[in-house]
Amino acid sequence: MRIISIANQKGGVGKTTTAINLSSALAHFGKKVLLVDFDPQGNAGRGLGIDINSLTQTVYDAVIGDADLSHLVKETNEENLYLLPSNLKLASLDTYFLSNNIEKPFFALREILSKIRDQYDFIIIDCPPSLGLLNINALVASDSVIIPVQCEYFAMEAVAAILASINKIKTDYNPDLRIEGFLLTMYDSRTSLGTEIAQQVRGLFKENTFSISIPRNISIPEASARGYSVTSWRPSAQGSMAYFSLAREVIDHEEN
Ligand SMILES: Nc1ncnc2c1ncn2[C@@H]1O[C@H](COP(=O)(O)OP(=O)(O)OP(=O)(O)O)[C@@H](O)[C@H]1O
Ligand SMILES: [Mg+2]
Repeated sequence: MRIISIANQKGGVGKTTTAINLSSALAHFGKKVLLVDFDPQGNAGRGLGIDINSLTQTVYDAVIGDADLSHLVKETNEENLYLLPSNLKLASLDTYFLSNNIEKPFFALREILSKIRDQYDFIIIDCPPSLGLLNINALVASDSVIIPVQCEYFAMEAVAAILASINKIKTDYNPDLRIEGFLLTMYDSRTSLGTEIAQQVRGLFKENTFSISIPRNISIPEASARGYSVTSWRPSAQGSMAYFSLAREVIDHEEN
């Protein structure tokens, strides 16, 4: 079993899309998967068609110790795929920890996930676009991290920042944290910028870059808008096939 964060403090690089579709593809291959939405934007839940604003309790209540996880985990419309939802309330976690003098604020998510990790083959955590408390909690709770890199301007600056953050967390809190891999997202081989960034990433992080790149594919936002993973809504779409390959690579890491 493995807990994997999908992290990059840069916004809009494909974290949530990867979290949803990797989770769905793993579930499709028979793995039991819990997708943890750890972003106050709640896009992982929304993307799976869950009305997050109507929820009275979310991952926030579990993390502050007010709710039993088993009551919060939701079934999705996909077999083997479960969701621990989030909404805007999660943005107040900093304030809650500060005002209640919580001693180990960075270990809160790790503590709750440690109680249920044996029930799943994979727990995938969708991180917010920041390097704050929520991101640290996710990385402290994880065995490894996938870093989506959008083939766009300033991609490498973002990679440098997330690597520095990962190293700090390894030193201070979670020495076993590994990089599962860099993942090229929204890749378009027809643009020179796209191929240039892809070459840079593969050049720098050869062993650590997934062989598959996720292509830019209109079926991906179309599926999200309908509340489905693309892998379940249109399994033969280019984007779906890429996420199935990614899931295969992730499963192979476990077996080797
Ligand atoms: N491969 C793709 N092809 C086409 N559109 C994509 C692809 N990947 C992501 N998108 C779209 O790009 C936008 C940003 O993607 P996503 O929400 O996954 O990024 P994010 O890193 O989670 O963003 P945030 O930092 O706000 O959490 C979304 O509208 C999504 O549908
Ligand atoms: Mg997101």
